[in-house]
This record gives sequence, C-alpha cells and structure tokens, in this order.
Amino acid sequence: MEKTFYLTTPIFYPNAKLHLGHAYTMTLADALIRYQRGAGKKTYFLAGSDENTQKMVDAAAKAGTEPMAFLDDIVKNFMKLYASLDISYDQFIRTTDTKVHWPGAQALWKRLDAAGDVYTKKYEGLYCVGHEAFVTEKDLVGGKCPDHGTEPEHLREENYFFRLSRYADVLKGKIESDELRLVPQSRKNEILSFIGDGLKDVSFSRPRRRGWPEGLGIPVPGDDSQIMYVWCDALANYITALGFGRDDALYREFWPADVHVIGKDILRFHAAIWPAMLLSAGLPLPKTIFVHGFITSGGKKMSKTLGNIIDPEELIETYGTDAVRYFLLRHISPFEDGDITREGFKDAYTANLTNGLGNLVARVMKLAETHLGESVARPEAAPFPREYSDMFDMFELNRAIDFVWGRIQALDERITREEPFRLVKKDPERGRALIGELVTELYWIARLLNPFMPETSEIIKRAVRENKKPENLFPRV
Ligand code: MSP
Repeated sequence: MEKTFYLTTPIFYPNAKLHLGHAYTMTLADALIRYQRGAGKKTYFLAGSDENTQKMVDAAAKAGTEPMAFLDDIVKNFMKLYASLDISYDQFIRTTDTKVHWPGAQALWKRLDAAGDVYTKKYEGLYCVGHEAFVTEKDLVGGKCPDHGTEPEHLREENYFFRLSRYADVLKGKIESDELRLVPQSRKNEILSFIGDGLKDVSFSRPRRRGWPEGLGIPVPGDDSQIMYVWCDALANYITALGFGRDDALYREFWPADVHVIGKDILRFHAAIWPAMLLSAGLPLPKTIFVHGFITSGGKKMSKTLGNIIDPEELIETYGTDAVRYFLLRHISPFEDGDITREGFKDAYTANLTNGLGNLVARVMKLAETHLGESVARPEAAPFPREYSDMFDMFELNRAIDFVWGRIQALDERITREEPFRLVKKDPERGRALIGELVTELYWIARLLNPFMPETSEIIKRAVRENKKPENLFPRV
C-alpha cells in the first residue's frame, strides 16, 4: 500500500471573501485527508490563493486599497475561515510569493519551451476577466458573460501559446484507461467528449499590464515584457508548493498528487491543460481528479455575482464548526449540485445533531459515569470497516457519513430495546457489561466520525477515556 497521500485544493481568487461554496470544497478535502491520516498515511494537504489577476486589481481599486495590502487582508480572511472550519492544511501557497512559487513556475515554463511547445502568435479575441480566459461569441448571452454579467474585453495581442493540441490523443488514452482517474464517471465522460472534439492551443502569456503593481505577475523566462497567463501560473502551484524548481525534497516525496479536489467549473483547466503541461514537461500526472458539484441557493449557483451567498462564518457562529461540516458532508452529494437553505440546515441540526448524536452521547456517557467504575477498553487501532474505507476510495463521502449515522441509529435502538438503565438495577453485572458494550460502540462511532467532525470525535473519545458525560454537544438553537 502507498504510504503517502498528497491532496490539493483549488487556490481561490482573493478578490472577495469566500462563501459557503468554497467552504464546501475545503471541507470535502479536509474530510478526505483526515481519513487518509487516520488510515496511517503520511499526508500533505495544500491550500492557497491565486493572486496574479486582473480581478484582484479591480477589486482593490474598488475598495480604494493598494493591491498588495488588499491581498494580504483577504488572505488573512481565507486563513481565518479555514481555522474556524478546522481545515488541517499543511501549507498555504500564494502565487505572489516570489521565493516559494515563482522559481518552479518558471522552471516548468522552461521545460514546456524546451519541449518545443511554446511559440508566439498574434492573437485577437474576447477575454472574460471573471473566467480569466478567452471566450467565444457563442459563450455570451446578449454580449455578456452569463456567469459574471460582464462584457468581455476585446484583446489584440502578441502572446506565447502552449501547444495543447499536441496532447489530445495521449490525454484521451490516459483518461480512458483511468491512469488519470476522473471521479465521478459523468465528469470523465464530459472531459472525454471535450477532448474528443480536439484541443486548441492556448494563449499562455499576457503583455505586462499597465497599472499593475511591482511583484504581480510572473515574468515569462527570457521575456520580461510578458507575464504568464494566470492559469499557467496557478496550476503550477501544485508542484511549486512542493519545491519543484528550488528544493525538491517534498516534491520527490509527494508528487504525483493522489488527488486534486476541484469544483466542476474548473474541470477543463485541470483535466486538459494541466496534465498536458505535465506531459510536455515530462513529469508524472496526478492520479485522481475529484470533481464536485455546486452549492446552490434558491436553485442557483451560490456566487457573489448572483448575490445569493451564505457566509460560512455566520453559520459557524450560530451552530458551531462541526455542525456546518456535518451538513455539508452529509446533506450534499459530492457529485451533484446541492441546495442549501437556512431552514433545511436548522432542521437537520435539530433532528440529527441535537436529538440524534448529542442525545445519544449524553445517554450513554451518563450511564457509564453512573454505573462503571472505570473507563472501558477502547478499539483504538482496529482497522476501519471495509465498507466505510471503500466509500472513501470512491469519494462517496455522504455515504460514508451515512454509514456512521447508521451505527448511531443502531446504538440508539439497542438502548431502547435492551434498556440498560433497568437491567443494571436488576442484574448489575450484566447491566454493567451491556453499558461497557455501548460505550465501546460509542468509541467506534467517534473514530468513524473523525474525518467529518474532528472536534466532536475528540470530545467523545475524551469522554470515554475519562468515563465522564461531556457538556451538551449540540445545544438547541
Ligand atoms: N483561481 C481559480 C482556481 C485555480 S486552481 C489552480 C479559481 N478560483 S475561484 O475562486 O473561482 O474558485 C473556484 C472554485 O471555488 C470551484 O472550483 C469550487 O471549488 C469553489 N466554488 C465556488 N463557488 C462554488 C459553489 N457555489 N459551490 C461549490 N463550489 C464552489 O477558479
């Protein structure tokens, strides 16, 4: 079995605060990595921000702040949110980091160039700043980008191009054979059909922008008048963070990535452009790309542009970190879009956390505290049930947490059926034995909950260790 596990997340644009959609990506990623850690792997979890962008410069101007200060501020906010969500990342990479990120991005560029895959071309087209990509007339509705509600800029430039077209066939083969595995199957089909239509070369640099501050945008090696296209720059983060092009100890240990976690909007960048860059550079491909759907609110993608944002901090303040993680992981299918309403959230909280898990922990630990002299033996090192591990391997996180809830329910039913509070009075020895079994099962539940609700898991484990009923876990809201 492989001993290491490297997981990456999209580096988000720091032009605005993150919302529940971004929190969703990070929570899925965190549950995956905690599972792998719990299963004994040496893990590495990368997060970051994608900073060399026009939209950030625009947002800073709008806020009346100097761009670099604006960035620092937003990035602090990202980190604050990750802390309140209990995201256990190892590194936060920033693409303006000239020491960490730039050498590797430039080294990668040089490899593409050496492979003969970089050439110059005069180009004219429509550029959507929201997407940070060229778009075509047929992507527009009434002359505007339907996702961002903005008119694209008309650009006429001489750029460097990347010979993406060259890799269509090889890529297709690797995706078909699952050498580069795409999860779920529907996304695999989608990207195969996209690649099957042929791939066009992509513009890979932009002329250095007027009005951009010093230190924004990675210079193209050998041509200071151009900076790298933001997606070329951003995708490289997955290896530059490991020290590619500077100090590659981590790179040697962890690359290729075990999984890139992404949302469905950035599939083409990750499953076409990025692997083609790696092929061109002669570097190994990531093993899996896991593509989740969108959090919608009122049936529409949650986004700043649409103004239907739910602030994760607000939910965390009211319900607590683990309640938010619980909801995102259990009540949203990782493969499809899922709608979130504040009422739905509250109902699930009350039914499954306050009345469900919280109540169960209180019942079992009250019995233990009252009737057991000492703590019970704990199933600390036993391997996870096969079914549960398989679900993680398939990225079916909602099913894996359903599995835990199945055991929560079964334990509840057992208490109702076998009435330990009565038995312990009638027959103390058998009663205590039964309570011991209930506590052992509760400990199992805590272990299985760890990837999803780490803090709750720890509180339950401690309660069992100390043989003491904990404080109310999920107070009524
Ligand atoms: N900067 C690029 C990513 C570069 S990765 C090398 C980018 N940034 S982004 O800020 O626009 O983030 C897009 C990602 O945010 C999605 O892929 C997804 O992970 C997350 N989401 C944004 N809105 C979302 C929802 N409404 N629902 C779920 N995820 C969403 O693209």
